[in-house]
Amino acid sequence: MNKTNQRVSPIGIDKDEFREIGYRLVDTISDFYDTIPERPVTTGETPKEIQTILGNASLPESGTPVSELFSRTSDLLLNHSLLNGHPKFFGYITSSPTQIGALADMLAAVINPNVGANILSPMATAIERQTVSWLAEFIGVSPAYGGILVSGGNMANLTAFLAARTAKAPMSIKENGLVNISNEMVFYCSKATHTWIDKAAVLFGHGSKAIRWIPTDNDNKMNTAILSQTIKDDIKNGKKPFLVIGNAGDVSTGVVDDLSEIASICRSHDLWFHIDGAYGIPAAVIPQYKSLFDGIREADSIALDPHKWLYAPMEAGCTLVKNPQHLIDTYSARPVYYNFDSSADEPNLNYYEYGFQNSRGFRALKVWLALQQVGKNGYIKMINEDIELSKLLFESAQKHPELEALTQNLSIATFRYVPFNDLQDENYLNTLNEKLLNELQKGGEVFLSNAVVAGKYCLRACIVNYRTSKKDIEEIIDIIVREGRNVHEAIKY
Ligand SMILES: Cc1ncc(COP(=O)(O)O)c(C=O)c1O
Repeated sequence: MNKTNQRVSPIGIDKDEFREIGYRLVDTISDFYDTIPERPVTTGETPKEIQTILGNASLPESGTPVSELFSRTSDLLLNHSLLNGHPKFFGYITSSPTQIGALADMLAAVINPNVGANILSPMATAIERQTVSWLAEFIGVSPAYGGILVSGGNMANLTAFLAARTAKAPMSIKENGLVNISNEMVFYCSKATHTWIDKAAVLFGHGSKAIRWIPTDNDNKMNTAILSQTIKDDIKNGKKPFLVIGNAGDVSTGVVDDLSEIASICRSHDLWFHIDGAYGIPAAVIPQYKSLFDGIREADSIALDPHKWLYAPMEAGCTLVKNPQHLIDTYSARPVYYNFDSSADEPNLNYYEYGFQNSRGFRALKVWLALQQVGKNGYIKMINEDIELSKLLFESAQKHPELEALTQNLSIATFRYVPFNDLQDENYLNTLNEKLLNELQKGGEVFLSNAVVAGKYCLRACIVNYRTSKKDIEEIIDIIVREGRNVHEAIKY
């Protein structure tokens, strides 16, 4: 092909240079993957130190060679980041990201399909549709559920929330808005529900008073007797209940609510049943835990997060809806400047009609490829091993005289350091464990987060990490106890 007529733009990279820089980057990344376990989980550098390393250069007036940019940026990121791919990273709910996901993101960026409209992303749309249907099959609901890939758990839940409201509100809500609804619309969730619900209440105009926080029982599950009574009271008082949210793995301790009981309450009051399974629902794939999730097939909508327990690199969440028409009823608009209509005999799937975004990236690719790389059985193995490692951690804490084990559900264990033979009150233990967590988080040997269980500040390990081994668990017990002693010595009175 004659290239002499091609436009020369400063941002293009010619073939040979692209190949050379690309190969070098892949070499650097391969070495990095190989050395993750020997690196600190985090360098513990302060924001000020990080700023100094980054420098304060002003906006460049002219360009820098790409090879130079990548060698500097590789150093910045590979040597000055928190590594959630480290085998001893158990903080919050952030997984060890798959390598296939890294390659997938590159390929997705090369094609750059706009997966808002079928005509702009014919193959990517088909792949996303297949991914959604595989995810439904994976967790054990009907593959007839439809849905959409979104950025994460918050967005997956918010997307479902609005669909629930459209489905259960009077028909006119889209035109007339909430202000013209005579009965206040209210919704229900357990006290253990993630903070996305606060955002939903504010964002969609209900206000936080419309949230009915249902207490949890001794197992941290939503108390369904109180749920049922609260709904009845609200109806008696002229409110309009429309939605109940069940947790399938709550954010703090991983508890799964009694989903079939919640489903039955929803049925009897004609309410939308949503499950927040952002973290825990992939465990439904494991035969011995399936019954824990009884009731999921009745959910009107489900949030799940491939970037949590399916180990996809961020970002990847998913909203599944039993009847996908509810998404279209909520989100579809047909502006004159879109020519996305389908022919009658082959209707187009235009994902802009399924959620908040119009222009959308190709998130599905990394999920779709990983599901094929290891299959359902590969995921059963990894998720089950994560749960077994969490149980091992919990049992090791139970056995250790200086640790108190508190909870263990799915792959989340909570426990705290309690000094041996040195009676201390609860306030002191809370302070001690908070300081201990801060030390551990800065120290770079292991990364945990925290939970508060029955008023006790504790350490929390969430294992969504296919790189973690038994040896890591044994080692972190020693690290935690060693640091616990140090902190206790430093602050005891
Ligand atoms: C149960 C649950 N729901 C929702 C979320 C929010 O997910 P994201 O941080 O991906 O928005 C989380 C995050 O940990 C979660 O655990």
